[in-house]
Amino acid sequence: MVDHADGIYLWDKTGRRYIDGSSGAVNVNVGHGNRNVIDAMKRQLDRVSFAYIFQFENEPATELARGLAERLPNGLDRIYLVSGGSEAIEASLKLARQWAVATGQDKRWKIIGRMPSYHGITLGALAVTGDDVLTKTFDAIDRPMPMVPAPLVHRDADNLSMQQRGIRYADLLEEKILQEGPESVLAFVMEPIGGAATAALVAPDSYYPRIREICDRYGILLIHDEVMTGVGRTGKFLGGDHWSCRPDIVALSKGLSSGYAPLGALAATQRIVGPVLEMGGFLHGHTYGGNPVACAAGVAVLGEVDRLGLIANSVAMGELLKGELEALSRRFPFVADVRGKGLFMGAEIYANPATRKPLPQGLNANLRLIDLAFERGLIIYSRRVRGGPPSDNFMICPPLIVTPDQIGEIIAVLGDSLAALAAELDLPVEG
Ligand SMILES: Cc1ncc(COP(=O)(O)O)c(C=O)c1O
Repeated sequence: MVDHADGIYLWDKTGRRYIDGSSGAVNVNVGHGNRNVIDAMKRQLDRVSFAYIFQFENEPATELARGLAERLPNGLDRIYLVSGGSEAIEASLKLARQWAVATGQDKRWKIIGRMPSYHGITLGALAVTGDDVLTKTFDAIDRPMPMVPAPLVHRDADNLSMQQRGIRYADLLEEKILQEGPESVLAFVMEPIGGAATAALVAPDSYYPRIREICDRYGILLIHDEVMTGVGRTGKFLGGDHWSCRPDIVALSKGLSSGYAPLGALAATQRIVGPVLEMGGFLHGHTYGGNPVACAAGVAVLGEVDRLGLIANSVAMGELLKGELEALSRRFPFVADVRGKGLFMGAEIYANPATRKPLPQGLNANLRLIDLAFERGLIIYSRRVRGGPPSDNFMICPPLIVTPDQIGEIIAVLGDSLAALAAELDLPVEG
């Protein structure tokens, strides 16, 4: 039972302290107990806590939309506000489809996703999520979409260079489009840097421009799911900014309010939004869309990201963290494929890293590692990859306010936890 939280730490009711090495669900970017965010929300509660978006505009919503439009690249300046990540994805998929209808392309409806991937837990989001365990039960009432393999390039045993692999994975999208019939394909949705399903998976540089090229060739919209990677988490405002990506629609949530209120957003270009508005408006809307208190939190969070220089800190602390994780990987050779950008880092746990042989899945090694770390006062993030080749992974994603000393603390406890895992599972340890 949680009691209180401050900075990168949480305390339970018994007084035990935990380091938040996962920023909650990779969302508490500005850290816990941020006074400026809390005060901004309190001020908004005192003025007006709710005004229905179909009856009134409100200043925080307008300011948040303006703040996002200024920070987002490539004309992504039309903003729609929702209450979470799954909602942002649902609305993105619907916006894409309504754009097709509004532009006389009714036959386009297929949205290609990646296997594995995670885009949220509502039906539309599950339809494009690559995770058999989460989706199969609901296939009967959902409309599962075509999938292409996520670029798990670190697992490939071929003679190609990483850049060649990037092209090869991107070209699988073209193959899928041709197989499905290009006139029926509406969009491709991807996490520019993989989240829960692939633990900070970064594709080779060659992948990103090739994907855009293929989407352009067939008139297909590119939707980036930046729910986890957006708002500075990876050391740029958007994960896709590392490659100057040009998505047509971007979904945001998590770090946007840093956990202080349920909040999400989608951003799209005028090319998409214009025809939808001309058609009579977006056929969408939630009671809590553009909620004044949630938006006040969002505005304050954007302010704190700037004031505290959190994107630069994500770069600097991310480099430190990556170096430390690589050192742990040398000490514990069963940990391999350390990857990520900024404070969005992941690694795999293998039975044999040389052959990428996974541990027996029945061992639930990733869950065991979470428990061992939790017992030692460190929270880490892990979800088993469920789709594509079996594997265990974990992520280290502390709040972007983390200091060098705190990175040291995280690594010390993680090292103890890995030593305990090695002892339990009889895995090799160096030195
Ligand atoms: C990439 C991605 N998309 C969508 C979601 C869904 O967000 P929410 O849990 O806020 O509905 C998540 C949540 O983890 C996510 O990581």
